[in-house]
Amino acid sequence: MSEENINIGWRAPSNIALIKYWGKRANQLPENGSLSITLEKSTTTTFLSFRKKESGNSEIALNYYFHGDRLPQFEKKTELLLNNLLPEMPFLVDYELEFHSENNFPHSTGIASSASSMSALALCLVSMEELVNGKKMSREIFFRRSSHIARLGSGSASRSVYGGLVLWGNTPCLKESSDEYATPYLLPEDSRLNKLMDIILIVSSMQKSVSSSKGHALMNEHPYRDGRKSQANTNLEKITEAIRTNDYQTIASIAENEALSLHALLMTSGSDGLLLKPGTLHIIEEIKRYRDSTGLDIFYTIDAGPNVHLIYYEDQREQVLSFVQKSLSQYCEGGQWIDDKMGNGPVQLTPEQKI
Ligand code: PMV
Repeated sequence: MSEENINIGWRAPSNIALIKYWGKRANQLPENGSLSITLEKSTTTTFLSFRKKESGNSEIALNYYFHGDRLPQFEKKTELLLNNLLPEMPFLVDYELEFHSENNFPHSTGIASSASSMSALALCLVSMEELVNGKKMSREIFFRRSSHIARLGSGSASRSVYGGLVLWGNTPCLKESSDEYATPYLLPEDSRLNKLMDIILIVSSMQKSVSSSKGHALMNEHPYRDGRKSQANTNLEKITEAIRTNDYQTIASIAENEALSLHALLMTSGSDGLLLKPGTLHIIEEIKRYRDSTGLDIFYTIDAGPNVHLIYYEDQREQVLSFVQKSLSQYCEGGQWIDDKMGNGPVQLTPEQKI
């Protein structure tokens, strides 16, 4: 390998969970299995440029730029993560590393970016590993390893290295599933689920009062901890069966049950974990009313925040867009919503595409 700077780039999407990962064991291992939709438009682009250090030392040497600015806070977090990765990626201390990262979803929308950013970062690191070891991995091993590395940064990021529906966590519902990494949940080509769309209704763009790390930690002593584990496992079993049989109503009711359960767990955790806003509840009511009156298969899910994801199928797009404009946008901050859909997963970028 030359002594020049080498550039690697990946664009990775965010994802939204239908079955929520909530609660973890040591080393970011999940208490329960989760299932998510990988998005298409909400992405993070990260470039890693690296060159061999002139003098050897055993410290991580990195600069981190976010939208062109050095962010000490991000730098510290990344340094911590890379130090944790050293047992698996000892070569990291032999290079000067420079990361340039950008999110394409609007700033301050309250959309968590850890899934897309940690998965883009992991993909860059595993590409670097291939280059420094001079050994190409099979695509299956490459993505599996990237998912594993992403998981160590943020659990949900493990799912963002694949497109479509993605499952993470060891479960009898999928033979090849694992707690260590995520696995694509493949659908038949003609399944209507391949055409899942997602409108993200931005009720508030304020930073959340409870971070997901704090939320996971609150589950350790939660009075409903065991109940949650068994609920999530049952929901995962039921939703995978409903996916197999194209039972859209069951998919919808389980996804909504998961969203409300996540918030119920937060509210009963003994913290002041109330993340829903009045606008969130208005949107839920409107979605239910509209579904009852039209019979459409739309449903909602909510992440650990106040914003609502309205999930629907492509063949209902016209009606849904007009419903959003007429009835839901009034509850969105500045009328803001993001028009997204299920996507195909990350893409590798050439050095010429560097930000
Ligand atoms: O990946 P983390 O540690 O930010 O946790 C994500 C947790 C949820 O977004 C609430 C649920 C999920 O499965 O994505």
